Amino acid sequence: MGLSVMSPNTSCDSIEIKSYTQLHINSPFLESLPLSKLYTSENAKVWMKIDAVQPSGSFKIRGIGLLCNKVVNEKNVKHLICSSGGNAGKSVAYAGRKLGIKTTIVLPTTIPEETVEKIRDEGANVIVHGNIWDDADSLAREIALKEGLDGYIHPFDNPTLWEGHTTIIDEIYQDVSRGISPKPDVILCSVGGGGLLIGILKGLEKYNWSDIPIITAETYGSHSFWKSHKENKLTKLEISEVTSTIKTLATRSVCSEAFEMSRRFKIIPILVSDREAVEACLKYVDQERILVEPACGASLAILYKKPTELLNLNPKNILTIVCGGNGTSISSLNKSLQTLPIL
Ligand SMILES: Cc1ncc(COP(=O)(O)O)c(C=O)c1O
Repeated sequence: MGLSVMSPNTSCDSIEIKSYTQLHINSPFLESLPLSKLYTSENAKVWMKIDAVQPSGSFKIRGIGLLCNKVVNEKNVKHLICSSGGNAGKSVAYAGRKLGIKTTIVLPTTIPEETVEKIRDEGANVIVHGNIWDDADSLAREIALKEGLDGYIHPFDNPTLWEGHTTIIDEIYQDVSRGISPKPDVILCSVGGGGLLIGILKGLEKYNWSDIPIITAETYGSHSFWKSHKENKLTKLEISEVTSTIKTLATRSVCSEAFEMSRRFKIIPILVSDREAVEACLKYVDQERILVEPACGASLAILYKKPTELLNLNPKNILTIVCGGNGTSISSLNKSLQTLPIL
């Protein structure tokens, strides 16, 4: 499968088309009958873009696959280095295996052992370091200083990575154009560092779909985008505020592009509890037979809750990005329910 990419900053008469091996798959865009059933009285349907089936287990491979391809093919990088909350690292490790390149993934100590093992299974060298992602990232940058900076892969803050994430909207647009599925009236997506959100917004701008409102999902204690939106300025959470157990969403700040771009759209940030996100994963696997991480469960929890912010939009076709995630199992979800407070 080929992926054509126009190099940025090239004038129209010298457009350069690069062709890389596409590392992500075109994912299914389907209606969820169990979720639609919840919205019968609103006469609305719920649609899923199921990126949980990506070969690396999450949407991250879209952007990371493109970025890794670029640095390997254009900058002759021989060693990919990434700091990660888990899923970016898994995508870099997968990309490295497919491209035949050595990978080093630095993860904070809070990452579940099941994720560490999955990344090792891809053949990556895994280093567990620091309590939060920022600590792991400092070490990844140190390693990259010695090994070659071009090999450093940021998990969410990179224009090529955002470009790769826009493929999620390319595919949705193609399905809508072919009459396979309807144009969504609202899109739900989870936000950590904001890379997924940027990819979606860039995709919507590309197709003149900027009228579609977005509901962003975060948890209390990983609410950096919610806070920036509320304060109308890019805000960094204090370390003491990052209390969510859902580490893949727990960045202290979204990247500035996410905040700046969001100003051009109708965005409704909603917070759910860790418990609601975990419960949503368990309900969803029962109903749809698809197991996701609580980072993704945060978006699903909003659908199960039916908040007024969503109902007030009077949507007829609700689309949720099922972003996936590796740090999950039925037993770990059930285990975390034993300790998470009922709010
Ligand atoms: C499964 C999953 N969903 C959503 C996100 C949020 O993505 P982003 O950091 O691009 O906002 C992440 C981030 O790691 C993730 O792993």
